[in-house]
Amino acid sequence: NSIDNGSFTWSSPSNIALVKYWGKKEHQIPENPSISFTLNHCKTTTKVSFSKKEDASGFSFDVFLDNEKKDDFKPKIETFFKRIDVYLPFLKDYHFKIETTNTFPHSSGIASSASGMSALALCLMSIEEELSLDISKEDFTKKASFLARLGSGSACRSLEGDLVVWGKHDAITGSSNLYGVKYPYQVHSKFKNYQDTILLVDKGEKQVSSTIGHNLMHGHPFAQERFKQAHTNLSYMISILKEGDLDAFIALVESEALTLHAMMMTSMPYFILMKPNTLEIINKIWEYRKSTGSKICFTLDAGANVHVLYPENEATSVLEFIQNELVAYCQNGQYICDVIGLGASKV
Ligand code: PMV
Repeated sequence: NSIDNGSFTWSSPSNIALVKYWGKKEHQIPENPSISFTLNHCKTTTKVSFSKKEDASGFSFDVFLDNEKKDDFKPKIETFFKRIDVYLPFLKDYHFKIETTNTFPHSSGIASSASGMSALALCLMSIEEELSLDISKEDFTKKASFLARLGSGSACRSLEGDLVVWGKHDAITGSSNLYGVKYPYQVHSKFKNYQDTILLVDKGEKQVSSTIGHNLMHGHPFAQERFKQAHTNLSYMISILKEGDLDAFIALVESEALTLHAMMMTSMPYFILMKPNTLEIINKIWEYRKSTGSKICFTLDAGANVHVLYPENEATSVLEFIQNELVAYCQNGQYICDVIGLGASKV
C-alpha cells in the first residue's frame, strides 16, 4: 500500500455486565458467556495518527492521556499489539500516536479498559480498512470486537448497544467466544433508557487486578458450578428481557454481582474488593426498595463502586434518594449519571 500517514478518531463507551464474565482460558476466551448494558456517557475518545516508518522491526507508538505523555500505559498496549499483530499485518510498518481522553474523571475507579481498548481497536480497524480492505460494516464491527477482546475481555462488549452478549451460549444465535454480538432478541419497553448511576465509593488502586482475578478461577473449588450457573442465568435473562419482569431482573442481577464477589472471596488467595461503604449502599438500596416498591437494584464490577440500575420512569425519585441517602457514602460525594447507550461512533 502507498499510504504514508493519516489519522482516525473513535469514541467508545464503557459497559456494565448483568451476567458476569469472570474466568478465562488462553487467548482471552471466556469460561462463560456474559451480557452487558452498553453505557452512554462514560466514554473514551481515542485518536490514532499513523505515519510510515523506515524499519519494520518492532512496534513504535506513543500514548497520551489528556495531552500528557503516558509511558506507564505502554506495556499494556505493547502486549495488545503483540496479540493482534497476526491479524493486522501493518502494525510494524507505522509509528502510532495514540491520544486519548475519558469523559469520566481518570483514577475514579471506573475501569477505562473496556472503553479504551474498544476505541483503540476501532481506530486500528479504520486504518486497516483504509489501507486494504473492502469490508462490510458488519465484518468491520465483528473484527474490531475480536481485536478489542484481545486488549481486555469485556472491551469486546462496548462497540454496539444497547445489550451485548459475549461468549457462546446455546440459546443465543450468533453468540461467540471470539467477539461480542448485539443481543438478538426482543427486549421489553420497560428496559428502554434504563438508568445506571455509578456511585464512586473508592478511587484507590485495586489491590487485585482483574487479570489476576480471572486467573484465580483456575482450580477454584466452585468454578465449574459458577460457569454452569452463568449459562443458566443467561437463559433465564432471555425471558426476563422479553417479559419485562423487573422483579426477576433485580434478583438475577444482584445475585450475579454478589456471586462475582463471592468468587473473589473464595479463591486462593482470597480477596475482597468491596468496601464498607459498598455494603452500606447495598443495604440502603434494599431498604428503599422494601419501603417504596421501587424497581431499583445494584450491580458491581471488579471494584468497590456501585452501579445503581433503575427504570427511566423512576429517574426523578431514585435520583433524589441517591442524593439524599447514598452520596454520603461516595468518595468526595462523586457519582456519574448514565443511561443505556448505542455503542461506539466514529468522530
Ligand atoms: O475485561 P476484564 O478482564 O477487565 O474483566 C472484567 C470483568 C468484570 O467487569 C468483573 C465482569 C464483566 O463481565 O465485565
